[in-house]
Amino acid sequence: MTVSIDTQGRVAIVTIDNPPVNASSQAVRAGLLEAVTKTEDDPDVDAVVLACAGRTFVAGADVREFDLPLMEPHLPDVIAAIEAASKPWVAAIHGTALGGGLELAMGCHFRIADPMARMGLPEVNLGLVPGAGGTVRLPRLVEAELALTMIAGGKPILANVALTAGLIDAIATSDLLDEAVALAVEHAAPRRTLENAVVGASDAEAFDKTATGLRRKVRGQESIAAAIDAVGRGVRLPADEALAAERAAFLALKSSDQARALRHIFFAERATLADPRAKLTPRPLQRIGVIGGGTMGVGIVSAFLMRGFEVTLIERDEASLHAGADRVHATLDSSAKRGLLPDLDAVSARFDTAIDYAALSDADLVIEAVFEDMEVKKQVFARLDQVTKPDAILATNTSYLDVNAIAAVLSDPSRAVGLHFFSPAHVMKLLEIVLPGAVAEDVVATAAKLSKSLGKIGVLSGVCDGFIGNRIMSAYRAEADRLLIDGASPDQVDSAMRAYGFPIGVFEMQDLAGLDIAWAMRKRRLAEGKISGGYIRIADRLCEIGRFGRKTGAGWYDHVDGTALPSEVVMSIIAEERQTMEAVGKAFATEDVMPRILGAMTREAEAVLAEGIARSAEDIDVVMVNGYSFPRWKGGPMFAARSAGG
Ligand code: NAI
Repeated sequence: MTVSIDTQGRVAIVTIDNPPVNASSQAVRAGLLEAVTKTEDDPDVDAVVLACAGRTFVAGADVREFDLPLMEPHLPDVIAAIEAASKPWVAAIHGTALGGGLELAMGCHFRIADPMARMGLPEVNLGLVPGAGGTVRLPRLVEAELALTMIAGGKPILANVALTAGLIDAIATSDLLDEAVALAVEHAAPRRTLENAVVGASDAEAFDKTATGLRRKVRGQESIAAAIDAVGRGVRLPADEALAAERAAFLALKSSDQARALRHIFFAERATLADPRAKLTPRPLQRIGVIGGGTMGVGIVSAFLMRGFEVTLIERDEASLHAGADRVHATLDSSAKRGLLPDLDAVSARFDTAIDYAALSDADLVIEAVFEDMEVKKQVFARLDQVTKPDAILATNTSYLDVNAIAAVLSDPSRAVGLHFFSPAHVMKLLEIVLPGAVAEDVVATAAKLSKSLGKIGVLSGVCDGFIGNRIMSAYRAEADRLLIDGASPDQVDSAMRAYGFPIGVFEMQDLAGLDIAWAMRKRRLAEGKISGGYIRIADRLCEIGRFGRKTGAGWYDHVDGTALPSEVVMSIIAEERQTMEAVGKAFATEDVMPRILGAMTREAEAVLAEGIARSAEDIDVVMVNGYSFPRWKGGPMFAARSAGG
């Protein structure tokens, strides 16, 4: 039975059991409606507890039902029936109560949660707004401003925050179900959320200010703008009118292109490791070594520490070691301040540092994040070959270099793999798992499991210059340079990318990250003869005069007091290079920019796919959305191109 009823004294316990996440599927909705009737009709029942079996409360709608016609009973009707019941209903929340799950809980008359529970309305992330009363009930339980932030931001809140805010009535201190039953016994009458006044309704000014702030972050995502509007109606209109308008907005968005794109990426992210090797038994991982405590090393060390691993950081000298370790501690401190690390001391106790590689003799996995230089990486791997256990996995975080060549210095190359993290590594979700030719199958399984243990999305990639993401990025960066030669300005390219939905354009991005790393890479490629005809020298010339980006106050733009201003110097270098290349440099329309950037992206992506570097078009979309800020609501470059092409 998807929904069952037991009794404990005079309290009925209605349990949803719909693995894996108790999604509010048709069977669940029908079962709940029946449970309302049965408990209302049962003279031996005074109150009801709504609970879920398995690892979580209702974690949302059944996304597989989204592309089907709506099936009765609809969730708003089920929730209305619960809210209208004459006997009090208590929601007992564990795991996550998300979307329809939280709406269901808000339709109950009382709520109690496990201390580790999280609650939220993340519908915007699937291109929707809540469709079962979320925008109307939430601001009747918590401050309207918080409701707005939760619904437009789509991020869940923790149980303690929910308690302070008024979303739940209690946090269970021992057994959730027993305490929910006690709460049900304590309350003789229902208490209906919709009968509450809006919380903080008098401060309309603060609400409007928050709404305006959020609107600035919308970029092109329709669902966020719609969510802001819906909460606005939930706060201002009579409840029944707001509910009807919310449902209409939900239904309109459900069949929108953006919702389809967001569903595509949602499923694509869950399918990246559907590889037979990922199902094999992984090697055990507990002790991790990280070589190099620079930008990436610090993030990688922090990511592992935050997820319960023991980590030893190795640097080349005491000064670099101290600098790296200090930055790890600073990263952990700031996470702890934001409530993300309950026991900072315990986390720090798992962190160790050393100069001598001998400290890695019992490591299960070592990741190198030293300079992007083949000789240095080979030396590091050769040392690791001598000091580590024979079955320890040795990984490189290289951005572009040949992982096969790095693996070849080992006596057993089957234990080498690329683990390409993104910066900052403790925040960014993407992990490219780069598989050299000789890689052992259980090394693939271990890397796949590791990506999950770190809370990341692992994508398998073959070996090539730049793997999936950096290779595609190099291609569209080169196209951006060609746009300059053809008449566009850096500002025009960046504005067009922002208008498309990127948070930042390619030139602004380079200024932020620093132009010097890519310069070094181009010099290497030139030396290796990998760059030929049509090479555009603008970026090299900027580097030659020390314009490395924000860190030097100048790059593609002049950076004055935190503002990026178009630069005369850059424009004149562009003009000179146009002349050298005998380009006409015609006036360029901003609407001509994106088709060329996207064209370059998809051409390279098709090549990456054809060569078997990426397993699927979906994997490419996941990489570009999660590593390169491709607008999620467009589904990734492959989805966007294929949708546009019909
Ligand atoms: P970085 O220059 O900030 O850090 C490198 C660190 O390695 C330095 O602290 C240096 O002292 C240390 N080091 C150098 N040789 C060493 C050795 N033999 N033994 C021990 N430590 C040594 O460089 P970053 O940016 O952290 O990059 C590291 C690697 O990660 C490179 O391969 C880079 O391509 C890759 N990467 C960089 C990303 C980024 O956004 N910066 C993103 C993804 C990968």
